[in-house]
Amino acid sequence: MKQIIDQIVSSRNLTLEQLVGLLSSNNQEGVRYLFDQAHQLTRHIYGNKIFIRGLIEISNHCKNDCLYCGIRRSRTDVHRYRLTEEEILQCCQQGYELGFRTFVLQGGEDPWYTDERMCHIVASIHQQFPDCAITLSLGERSRQSYQRLFDAGADRYLLRHETADRIHYQKLHPAEMSFDNRIRCLKDLKEIGYQVGCGFMVGSPYQTFETLYQDLQFIRSLQPQMVGIGPFIPASGTPFGDRPTGSVDTTLRLLAIIRLIHPHVLLPATTALGTLHPQGREMGILAGANVIMPNLSPARLRANYSIYDNKLSTGAEAAETVDDTRRRLTPLGVDIPADRGDYTPSQTSDSQ
Ligand code: 5AD
Repeated sequence: MKQIIDQIVSSRNLTLEQLVGLLSSNNQEGVRYLFDQAHQLTRHIYGNKIFIRGLIEISNHCKNDCLYCGIRRSRTDVHRYRLTEEEILQCCQQGYELGFRTFVLQGGEDPWYTDERMCHIVASIHQQFPDCAITLSLGERSRQSYQRLFDAGADRYLLRHETADRIHYQKLHPAEMSFDNRIRCLKDLKEIGYQVGCGFMVGSPYQTFETLYQDLQFIRSLQPQMVGIGPFIPASGTPFGDRPTGSVDTTLRLLAIIRLIHPHVLLPATTALGTLHPQGREMGILAGANVIMPNLSPARLRANYSIYDNKLSTGAEAAETVDDTRRRLTPLGVDIPADRGDYTPSQTSDSQ
């Protein structure tokens, strides 16, 4: 296994057979070597820094009906809310005081946030917090809309591709959603100049080694600055509410593999990982993750942003406790700076 891992490190690529081998292996020593190589590579590039992002869930209204998602439009038992500009700015202020220098505005696809409203919000944050990065995660919009938001001051955009396999994509989404549009969005975002994040769930229904392999090859071709992956967690009241939960261990292995094939990527240890395992975030960091995204939303509304069951928004996932998180991570020898935590491009080309 070590030989295969060394080969992946030097070629920044792997074969389908190697992926299957890495994800199915029972060789604990080999898996530890995989995690260590990924963690060391992260240190080599980003030092001992773990970057924090303040996550503000601005709206749980959504016009989409993704089969896996707990805030899909056909769930009628969800208490829907949206934040006003003033509330969002208050979250940023609180986050700023806690040391956050990136704000992630995430929401369902909520048409209430027109370009006009959203650009106003982005411009206000940009003006009040000029030393902070603004990340948007608002789903699919037109190229013109992405351009306007970028011009208003947004720096980064997160849009998970969900799966790079067209047939798999159709099984996870209703007929009116299109794989081509998803990919179009990611390409537009990149061309406009955003730092872009794609990503997928681990263990989503109908996922196979082949679809995962396509996800990795998609990452190699898109060369995103960020990749968000986390285990699938069933959400009750959705068509996939009875499906099995994704594996924490497989998620960790994939985090490590993504680090090895795309070394400079900003890679969060996601909330879903923390939800399934009390040490999920620490384990993620030791497997190559270098970002955490604590929740900065108004505490009274957090429970409503229930994209899956039992989603954590307290404890280590709460922005208020970031000082505790700092302390908890000290034994790992890592530090959380009050820093934007931008992507560091490689000197040569990452894609080779
Ligand atoms: N389990 C895990 N992740 C989920 N997401 C949506 N629903 C679930 C779920 N049930 C992820 C999707 C989406 C991101 C915001 O959350 O990948 O892009």
